[in-house]
Amino acid sequence: MIGPDIVIAPSILAADFANLAAEARAVEGAADWLHVDVMDNHFVPNLTIGPAVVASLRAATEIPFDCHLMIEDPKRWAPAYAELGAYNVTFHAEACADPVALARDLRAAGSKAGLALDRDTPVEPYLELLPHFDTLLIMTIKAGFGGQRFIPELLDKVRLARRHAKAGHLELRIEVDGGIADDTIAAAAEAGADAFVAGTAVYGADDPAEACRKLRALAAAAAR
Ligand code: DX5
Ligand code: ZN
Repeated sequence: MIGPDIVIAPSILAADFANLAAEARAVEGAADWLHVDVMDNHFVPNLTIGPAVVASLRAATEIPFDCHLMIEDPKRWAPAYAELGAYNVTFHAEACADPVALARDLRAAGSKAGLALDRDTPVEPYLELLPHFDTLLIMTIKAGFGGQRFIPELLDKVRLARRHAKAGHLELRIEVDGGIADDTIAAAAEAGADAFVAGTAVYGADDPAEACRKLRALAAAAAR
């Protein structure tokens, strides 16, 4: 695997949007990626930020950006996030007719390519596409809002994808997103996830950097 064994990615959805630069800097050195949730009020009911704000934030911190696009028409909008310097750009399979072509566009624009599957989307139809992706994001809630309860049954998709990736010798990050906290991260790591998004568990804590370190230790102990 390229990069760290375990990726901890705090989600800005639980941060103070008036102080995003400071919130990003608060986890520098403790987090691997900053998970930037982009929502368009169409693919999901919620609305967050777009390329202009992400570009400004990109200039304000050293942390690699993991952009999670919960938007319609990612073919039109996703490459802009790669061009503004995101490390990884993940779009939803449910919103894209040709995921492999978009993965190719993202890599050509300079980022890693990620495929996200929402709560009700099975993983089986996408297994054959995984060689074209760097990241597979398995939602462990229904996409749209932070602070929801983790759904353990969704880890079956992580197990299946990890088995498939191992059998095919794929270098694939499997990322889990939703309800990841001290009491759930071990199960996700045991299932085969190696990248962990945490919003409430990091930015709801008194010390976000310390919360990242604790999550990492728990994931590392479970992955062993
Ligand atoms: C929700 C977002 C998540 C969210 C996770 O659709 O994709 O990244 O911020 O929040 P928590 O960690 O609070 O479940
Ligand atoms: Zn997310």
